Amino acid sequence: MSSKTKTSGKVSDRLDHHSRRSFLRAAATGAITAPYFVPARAFGANAPSNRITLGCIGLGNQGTPLMKRFLEQADAQVLAVCDVNRGSNGYKDDHQLLGREPAKQIVENFYAERRPSNVYKGCDAYNDFRKVIERDDIDAVIVAAPDHWHAIMTLMAIENHKDVYCEKPLARTVSEQQAIVRAVRQHKRILQTGSHERSNPLVRRACELVRNGKIGEVKRVVTHVGRHNKVGPGPGWTPTPVPDGFDYPMWLGPAPEAPYHKDRCLYRFRFNYDYAGGQVANFGAHSNDMAQWGLGMDDSGPVEVECLFADFLPEGSLFNAATYTCFRCVYANGIELICQTAEPSVRCIFEGSEGLVRVDQLGANFFTIPESLATWEPGANDIRLGSGDNHYRNFLDCVKSRNEPIAPVEVGHRSGTICHIGNIACRMNARLNWDPASERFIGSKAEEANSYLESDLTRPWHL
Ligand SMILES: NC(=O)c1ccc[n+]([C@@H]2O[C@H](COP(=O)([O-])OP(=O)(O)OC[C@H]3O[C@@H](n4cnc5c(N)ncnc54)[C@H](O)[C@@H]3O)[C@@H](O)[C@H]2O)c1
Repeated sequence: MSSKTKTSGKVSDRLDHHSRRSFLRAAATGAITAPYFVPARAFGANAPSNRITLGCIGLGNQGTPLMKRFLEQADAQVLAVCDVNRGSNGYKDDHQLLGREPAKQIVENFYAERRPSNVYKGCDAYNDFRKVIERDDIDAVIVAAPDHWHAIMTLMAIENHKDVYCEKPLARTVSEQQAIVRAVRQHKRILQTGSHERSNPLVRRACELVRNGKIGEVKRVVTHVGRHNKVGPGPGWTPTPVPDGFDYPMWLGPAPEAPYHKDRCLYRFRFNYDYAGGQVANFGAHSNDMAQWGLGMDDSGPVEVECLFADFLPEGSLFNAATYTCFRCVYANGIELICQTAEPSVRCIFEGSEGLVRVDQLGANFFTIPESLATWEPGANDIRLGSGDNHYRNFLDCVKSRNEPIAPVEVGHRSGTICHIGNIACRMNARLNWDPASERFIGSKAEEANSYLESDLTRPWHL
């Protein structure tokens, strides 16, 4: 994280200081009579408002609808939004207006509609996420910035005693993910990974079928990731002017210096390895997460990963992530996982000696062989994989109860790792041995492969 960042001293000092300061601030603004603005921790679990105060970082294609999901939760209060884009079109849907000012407007309109006065002006909009993280009246932050920012933002938030909802994939590299795992455990924070299929009852049922042996012995899992859904400029492309209201240096942050082009940033960052892991990490953080869940591999991973096929755009193209990929992982028990670019409406197929379970797009459907499995329900002695159907609610509940969320940090890390090591095998066009205990490649080509695991953040940003 930035050398400019400070973290405070002892937790107890911080809490005392927070409580006093929040109370005084609330009293000074007259907000003490209104439920708005008082952080939940200022008064403990039985606070009059009992609201969890939130700061949302990254208000683009995913961050804006995500923020709305949290607005819907009566015990949450969005106090701050942050984006390096003041507000513009040019996201996934070219006509959608997103960024910090549109987000602030959404928040204030939402709360205004619920007040007799129809007026609410209590959401601050920031360009610099450190201003959100340093606020002592914010309990938790939602990180929905591009992947190259996940580790820095999450680590800074954790060190400032915030709980974190971090979008998937957990981070851009394996070592960044490991740093997040360590920090969450060391600082005893709640972290929910945005692999929200864990809160999908159909996905859960599919995985319960597999875990309870209903398709017999599992032989193979096939996961799908989508193709590039945007076209970027080819070799010889020329930079374009940075739009007014867009803080490009702060968008790049820990990524290497690079000339601006609109296709580098909003939404399209996912097609460039400097910022993300291509569609493998984008879709795979869901589909490979389902595979890990169904296989019961949340605390482990495969022992081998091999590129079967990978295709890239010509050297010099702005998008450098593989356009098509197919890689094969093998677990120690012999089960194969094939992750391939294919129809993304199919997410994950578990193939067993006595049947099959296929989870379709966003877990909206599942298909079984034999058909009768579709109505199977776990009995009292069967393995059950949790409950609930709202990933955001689950996060807030866990912030209050301090219980583990449905997609805790280790889950995000291990599922993300499948995507990252698959990408590494494809970038090297290699077959590699992976040790899920030490989380390092071993054997032939290990040195080069391990170098991809490391974080390569540009100074002054560091883990
Ligand atoms: N759970 C899901 O199904 C799902 C779906 C889509 C995206 N995502 C994840 O959400 C994240 C964002 O993806 P997206 O599609 O919304 O991208 P996006 O480009 O549309 O939005 C990212 C936003 O973050 C902002 N940003 C960049 N650097 C910032 C910084 N330093 N401080 C504050 N804001 C900054 C950008 O300006 C942009 O508005 C990614 O990690 C992606 O994998 C998850």
